[in-house]
Amino acid sequence: MKITSIITMAPITILASLPRSVLSLAFTVNSRTNTSRINAAKFILRNRPVPVAAIGNRSQLFSTKATTVDDSKTSEENVPSTKPQKTRNRRILSGVQPTGSLHLGNYLGAIRQWVDFQDRETEPFVDDDGVLVKTENYFCVVDLHAITMPHDPKELEESTLSSAALYLAAGIDPTKSKVFVQSHVSAHTELSWLLNCVTPMNWLERMIQFKDKARKAGSTESVGVGLFTYPILMAADILLYQADRVPVGEDQRQHLELARDIVRRFHDLYCKGNAFKKRCKKAGIPTYRTFTEPEAMIVSEGSARVMSLTDGKSKMSKSDKDDNSRINVLDPPKVIRDKIKKCKTDAFKGIEWDNPERPEATNLLDIYAAVQPNRSREDIIEEVKDLNWGEFKQLLADAIVKHLEPIQLKYKEVREDEEYLMGVLRNGASAANEVASATLNAARVAMGFTAYPAER
Ligand code: TYM
Repeated sequence: MKITSIITMAPITILASLPRSVLSLAFTVNSRTNTSRINAAKFILRNRPVPVAAIGNRSQLFSTKATTVDDSKTSEENVPSTKPQKTRNRRILSGVQPTGSLHLGNYLGAIRQWVDFQDRETEPFVDDDGVLVKTENYFCVVDLHAITMPHDPKELEESTLSSAALYLAAGIDPTKSKVFVQSHVSAHTELSWLLNCVTPMNWLERMIQFKDKARKAGSTESVGVGLFTYPILMAADILLYQADRVPVGEDQRQHLELARDIVRRFHDLYCKGNAFKKRCKKAGIPTYRTFTEPEAMIVSEGSARVMSLTDGKSKMSKSDKDDNSRINVLDPPKVIRDKIKKCKTDAFKGIEWDNPERPEATNLLDIYAAVQPNRSREDIIEEVKDLNWGEFKQLLADAIVKHLEPIQLKYKEVREDEEYLMGVLRNGASAANEVASATLNAARVAMGFTAYPAER
């Protein structure tokens, strides 16, 4: 068997049993997955004398040799004396609004990225500073966001559960990632209020998405205040989990910037000086800064911004009244074919990418490439460059249907198994509540709230 195969397939405990020289040789295999696997194996090696045979699985590995800190920062206080024992919890958080059904933009711009990340990067690794990094993924269905626009209470529950089922059908694995419903963790609304009082109004007035949605709604009389303050709720969603990275589509970049600004302002206002330290000491919590500054993770190719089927210059969106403007992930094959048949094209000959005068061609090619992730751009352009629109549309519809089919089948299975779905959401909410309530408590202490009266 080749060494590359051993590194990719063997359990880490087996890797750790290889001689050091073999591991070092394996390090020359330049793949991210392999590097993290080798790093994990090196970590075990460095931390013997725990016999390799005694380490049955990953959770045992970390509970025997490393102390897991409860928040995302590395701290001397949290590290046992033998080296190298520092650990850091890296957290990933993201969510989709359960407004109507999720579309290709949500799937390609966000959910598929979550799955890629989960599958590629959840395994623990030792970073360049010798710190053992453990990744936790949290994916929530942000139902509190879904009521920022008029909604139908009869539909909210089903669209929330349907979105959760779709996360799982798309490949989110509850053994590697927590899946939960935002409104099941009340810390979101409470932190949101605290941050409302920290965020200047004019920061929100700059938010493009608010301006856009308010304009579409007609006048500010017909939109709730929640639509205006919604980016603060989104900041609370992220900050509660000390999330370092937030995988989203391009349209959420500005909201992520706002979340970072809120973190800095909060720390400037409340997390400085002896008074802060005293409050923390009294509350029995470490004197860390309260929140982690999150970073946006945005896919680099065309899927960061999937455009409408009826206008290649505007984003595919749930709020577009015309259902033909988007492909919903659960659209049946016939509906997908009809939508593609009707979608906007142009009068140019052939199909080409990146011609600024042909936004529809670029968008449809981006989609075509995104649903065939194993093909190169060159290969695709070679195939389609001389086709007419009718021929290309046929190929495109086939490719979308083929890509979505397994997800739709899996969705049906998950959605019909209510007990399983509820179990996943219960576990997810329980884990989320634990992390979120610790952060909320730290924020309350930083701001100077009195503690809940203890029993005498
Ligand atoms: P939402 O529900 O509008 O969209 C969910 C995710 O899908 C991405 N997305 C797109 N990506 C590419 N092309 C498109 N046409 C497209 N349309 C949507 C979005 O960028 C997003 O990643 N405020 C957020 C939800 C949210 C959230 C959070 C996200 C609430 N709290 C915390 C991350 C972390 C929203 O309305 O996304």
